[in-house]
Amino acid sequence: MRAYARWAPIYDATFGMIADYGRRHAVDLINKRHGRVLEVGVGTGMSLPRYKRHLKVTGIDLCPQMLDKARTRVDKHKLDHVEEILEMDAGALEFEDNSFDTVVAMYVMTVVPEPEKVLEELERVCVPGGEVILVNHFSQDHGPRAWMEKALSPFAAAIGWRPEFPLKRLMGRKNLRLIRRVALRPLGLFTMLRFAKEVTPTTETAYRHNDASSAIAAASVAKAQTSDLHL
Ligand SMILES: C[S@@+](CC[C@H](N)C(=O)[O-])C[C@H]1O[C@@H](n2cnc3c(N)ncnc32)[C@H](O)[C@@H]1O
Repeated sequence: MRAYARWAPIYDATFGMIADYGRRHAVDLINKRHGRVLEVGVGTGMSLPRYKRHLKVTGIDLCPQMLDKARTRVDKHKLDHVEEILEMDAGALEFEDNSFDTVVAMYVMTVVPEPEKVLEELERVCVPGGEVILVNHFSQDHGPRAWMEKALSPFAAAIGWRPEFPLKRLMGRKNLRLIRRVALRPLGLFTMLRFAKEVTPTTETAYRHNDASSAIAAASVAKAQTSDLHL
């Protein structure tokens, strides 16, 4: 976390810029959806001006210096669709189950100490039939990139992210069905994963006790998109 206190003043002009294509790709997709959006690890809020105004966006992050930048951006651009920017741990989200129609985490899973726990939390706060969207770097098993990732690994704490991070670590959740996987610029370094949270008899009952919108409709859209899977 200390790494991000140091990154905050230069983040937008450095990693923030390199990561912009993936961020735009994910937000364009979310803009076609409706309802409440939770952005986990919102950082300096680079994505916030891109969300369409029909969405209600909440951002959380653990780093106060990054959050200050995000709040300044919300004020400066009068982003009325951003409901709250909160200091919170992605591994212990302080929201009720089934609170958001879309939950997105961009460039966060390689930064947090327990990515599996974070994914469990993203699933928990997403409505049944809603979507969990991740944009991240995933490491390779072979080739020059795998070699580079291994070489960078000892410096993970200093650079603020874990270069060795296999995608399979995020594939174990029974109620999250992968509906699309896209390799992103630059050079396929990043990947977008789009999951639908299954509507099971248990999650459907839970949803009926919650007023987040469009869950059941979203479930049928998600089903239809399975055929778009890019693997
Ligand atoms: C690489 S930055 C990505 C920021 C933003 N998502 C973007 O697209 O530019 C990673 C962010 O995750 C935040 N972060 C790290 N650990 C966290 C945690 N446990 N809970 C919430 N946010 C965390 C960092 O403070 C940082 O803002």
